[in-house]
Amino acid sequence: MPTPTKDSLMNENDTPERYAPLVDALVARGWYQWPRALSTSLCQALLAEAEQHEADGHLEPAGVGRGVIHQVNATIRRDEIKWFDGRTAAQKAYLDQMAELQTYLNRSLFLGLFEYECHFARYQPGGFYKKHLDSFRGRASRMVSVVCYLNPEWQADWGGELVIYGENAEDSGDIRAVITPEMGKLVVFMSESMPHEVLPTQHPRTSIAGWFRCNTSVTGKIDPPK
Ligand code: OGA
Ligand code: MN
Repeated sequence: MPTPTKDSLMNENDTPERYAPLVDALVARGWYQWPRALSTSLCQALLAEAEQHEADGHLEPAGVGRGVIHQVNATIRRDEIKWFDGRTAAQKAYLDQMAELQTYLNRSLFLGLFEYECHFARYQPGGFYKKHLDSFRGRASRMVSVVCYLNPEWQADWGGELVIYGENAEDSGDIRAVITPEMGKLVVFMSESMPHEVLPTQHPRTSIAGWFRCNTSVTGKIDPPK
């Protein structure tokens, strides 16, 4: 099979207006679920990359926190990750779509998003990620979270759902959504206000987790990524 080009992985009829329902939902309730947002050919190419990274031993245990407080804690999360380097056609096509979404979010919500970072994530059977926020309150850098799922078929009894909770993180009864990780689905939510968790999965589970960041500077230094 010839190596796919970036353009061959994009949908032809995609216009920025397709993001309108997403933006409306983000404003109204803080999250949005979009089944079949990405083409199957792009998702298959991304899945193949994630599986190759795993086969090559290039995934690393995910940590909690950033910079000096980054630590691996297997009681909180058990996925393994690989950050995008943007070098392959599939990564470029995915990053192009995120850049388009970023432009749309900035134009419609004046969010001032300036950077996007993302990684592949593989959860092995038994893997989970306990309830958390992607951004700590008061240190606004991750503004909008985007998860893309790469699992061709997901059976109801495999677990591994993403659960989104209401703003009060202490109230575990306030479940806003239980989302199955099916190939092509995008889930977008506000990083600072929507606690969420990945339920234990029975089956290997692959996703791309990413964040749009706004510019924060601490003691004169621009907030570094990761
Ligand atoms: C994360 C995360 C959700 C998922 O990586 O921060 O919450 O469904 N991932 O993979
Ligand atoms: Mn998260």
